[in-house]
Amino acid sequence: MSTNQLDKKSQAWSALFSEPMSDLVKRYTSSVFFDKRLWQADIQGSLAHAEMLHAQGLISAQDWASIDKGMAQIRQEIESGAFEWQLDLEDVHLNIEARLTQLVGDAGKRLHTGRSRNDQVATDVRLWLRSEIDEIGLLLNALQSALVDVAEQNTETILPGFTHLQVAQPVSFGHHLLAYVEMFARDAERLIDLRKRVNRLPLGSAALAGTSYPLDRERVAKTLGFEAVSQNSLDAVSDRDFAIEFTAAASLVMIHISRLSEELILWMSQSFGFIDLADRFCTGSSIMPQKKNPDVPELARGKTGRVVGHLMGLITLMKGQPLAYNKDNQEDKEPLFDTVDTLKDTLRIFAEMAAGITVKPEAMERAAKKGYATATDLADYLVKKGLPFRDAHEVVAHAVKDAIAAGVDLSELPLSTLQTYNPAIEQDVFEVLSLRGSLNARNLLGGTAPVQVRSQVARHRMRLA
Ligand code: ARG
Repeated sequence: MSTNQLDKKSQAWSALFSEPMSDLVKRYTSSVFFDKRLWQADIQGSLAHAEMLHAQGLISAQDWASIDKGMAQIRQEIESGAFEWQLDLEDVHLNIEARLTQLVGDAGKRLHTGRSRNDQVATDVRLWLRSEIDEIGLLLNALQSALVDVAEQNTETILPGFTHLQVAQPVSFGHHLLAYVEMFARDAERLIDLRKRVNRLPLGSAALAGTSYPLDRERVAKTLGFEAVSQNSLDAVSDRDFAIEFTAAASLVMIHISRLSEELILWMSQSFGFIDLADRFCTGSSIMPQKKNPDVPELARGKTGRVVGHLMGLITLMKGQPLAYNKDNQEDKEPLFDTVDTLKDTLRIFAEMAAGITVKPEAMERAAKKGYATATDLADYLVKKGLPFRDAHEVVAHAVKDAIAAGVDLSELPLSTLQTYNPAIEQDVFEVLSLRGSLNARNLLGGTAPVQVRSQVARHRMRLA
């Protein structure tokens, strides 16, 4: 078929159509310039379908061989950049099929037996997303490992833990970083779970009602590595839950990245001075020569809005659609593609950036000493001496008030002064009031004591190995 013939064919779908599309409408309805990225999945899906058609006696051995050969050439053409993508051919599916027919003739025209672009596109997107999910899983693991490395070096580094962004209690910096490792571990778990629902085969549902050809759907599923075949053709061609679920999981990853970013930005600001990021993740200012801006975490925080926006887009895309396939569904691709691209880049950059953090333990410790972070420890000390907790809380509030007035830390009040709040207070209180004493005291599963943090580091290492 010549290009000219292709053009003519595409201008009118069939004898039914009596006028061509305007260029504007063509551009509006076509998806090839973004869905061409599905080409590998499209070829893979077509080959599995053709192999099954042959196994079922629906196409000849020669046709199957021609399709196989034609697809090999198309693969080569696309990889080398020689393939001519045509807007007139609407999408990746029609572009590849038309080229196949151009190369191998009638065998190419037989490929679409028992198939519709509706079940084809759903299959392609699932195949493509499945492999992206696997890559994202690896990237999440790499980021976790990078964070575990920094945590391990900082099990004994103390910084103020905050609630309401007010100094609350001293915590280990390692413990703080491992909180993010927990988040990213849950994210990885979520991806593994939703992958099961991505990994189901719609092919064989045809346009919406199934097909009258005796297809072997299980065979195609096995060839393509799908765990199950869809059980309702109407649902199979119209379901985009898997895309929404994935984008929701991606949004959560980005939300975790964004929270971490916010902390990195705060910690790097002069008022905190807790860390420094490597220069290669920052930029300067064109007017203020002293500036070093944490651009990468700021952008990641911003890109979180973009990914959450894609989630909103996909949810809204689906809400009003009647069964079964509607052209609306073509709009699932760009949000999904951009979500994957944004997430992968972000995870890669963050793993590198985390590995290059400079920690400033003195500044962290100085800040931890400022906000009466060990006040709870004094209350706990009094409880151990027999005071009810609420009374102990009140006693310590008085002590803190006086210490603020005197401009000193609780640990700097003389024993005789402390004893005026409660006579049970003894010399051993000073160990309790120290940052390290406070940290070590929280020695239970999930607590911030360095012993606990070290055991968590070991657990994560085993898990990530
Ligand atoms: N490009 C279309 C999409 O992405 C493929 C399916 C088109 N099906 C149809 N009946 N027009 O959704």
